[in-house]
Amino acid sequence: MSSNIGAHVKCTVFGESHGQAIGCVLDGLPPGEKIDLEEINIQMKRRAPGLDSTSTTRAESDIPKILSGVLNGRTTGAPLAALIENNDQKSKDYDELSRLMRPGHADYTGHVRYKGYNDVRGGGHFSGRLTAPLVFAGGVCRQILRRRGVYIGGHILEINGERDSDFDPVRVEPELLERLSSQHFSLIDSSVEQAMRQKVESAKKQGDSVGGIVEAAAVGIPAGLGSPMFGGVENRLAPLIFGIPAVKGVEFGAGFGFASLRGSEANDPFDFDDKGNVVTISNNNGGILGGITTGMPLIVRAVIKPTPSIARPQHTIDIKNKCKAKLQVRGRHDPCIVPRALPVVEAVIALGLLDLMNDNLKGFD
Ligand SMILES: Cc1cc2nc3c(=O)[nH]c(=O)nc-3n(C[C@H](O)[C@H](O)[C@H](O)COP(=O)(O)O)c2cc1C
Repeated sequence: MSSNIGAHVKCTVFGESHGQAIGCVLDGLPPGEKIDLEEINIQMKRRAPGLDSTSTTRAESDIPKILSGVLNGRTTGAPLAALIENNDQKSKDYDELSRLMRPGHADYTGHVRYKGYNDVRGGGHFSGRLTAPLVFAGGVCRQILRRRGVYIGGHILEINGERDSDFDPVRVEPELLERLSSQHFSLIDSSVEQAMRQKVESAKKQGDSVGGIVEAAAVGIPAGLGSPMFGGVENRLAPLIFGIPAVKGVEFGAGFGFASLRGSEANDPFDFDDKGNVVTISNNNGGILGGITTGMPLIVRAVIKPTPSIARPQHTIDIKNKCKAKLQVRGRHDPCIVPRALPVVEAVIALGLLDLMNDNLKGFD
């Protein structure tokens, strides 16, 4: 398995959806950082199942238990290990899934890769549940970054064709990011919420699911973070975001939109602001040039596919009996992953940015 990442601030995620517990180990954190558990729990709740009609009804409290690396509320500098118990698993829902491969899920590829020994219950280590430890890790990093003036937040940009307003790429206020990152169904323009929810409800009623796009931003990032070629900010953040199950595309700034622009429209002209700081008048490059931060807002979008486990009958194969089969997925599944994936995208950006900051600062002292 390859469930660890980071050059300086390293994160390892462990566990399976229906095992005893899931968790993470965060290594390389600066010592003496105050950790506000209540604030982390707000982020955990944004991702937790069972709290919104767009989510699965699996009820997990997702309260992380810190096992090491924190003393008297502050990081010690030793590896920080956190455990999240699994309490509401219903594994009998998964008996037939060891034979019948869910289209769109990792049952088949997991079976091939791990020779049939992988835990298929609840998706095992491939489950979206494994993003809970990521939200914990990101919650820790987010607090450390905020103390250094960096703010991260995101919103649901699109669900099945219903679209929120985009971030203004040159003017993202920390207050907006703080509001968005404290909400469950985060939107810049809340008037689109009903239409989005209707799309989810209608798919759910038909035993189906929908996907969408999340857009995240980070501000207060100093210019000069990252390196060219393979050490770029895009290179460092994309693996983290693609580590989130169901993410199938990531774009920075104008992203694929660059295809229809001319150079004169795509370039971000330089200027000085009132305080003499270098800024760009537009921000199509999403705050990154040559893999290195410009100091403008970092803008990232991730597309989340429709939840693979759907109640509608689907064509598949029985891998044990080697025959064609019909599958109707039972069990509890999110009719739309997008709202729950959003805090995870924010969390991994926090993890990646803290790691990148450590490249340049060689420690935080
Ligand atoms: C927060 C979250 C919740 C998820 N919930 C479900 C779910 O209820 N049912 C499901 O089939 N997939 C769910 N997924 C997606 C699968 O885990 C994912 O599609 C699968 O592992 C295959 O990986 P891939 O889509 O990245 O190729 C969820 C993903 C996330 C991030």
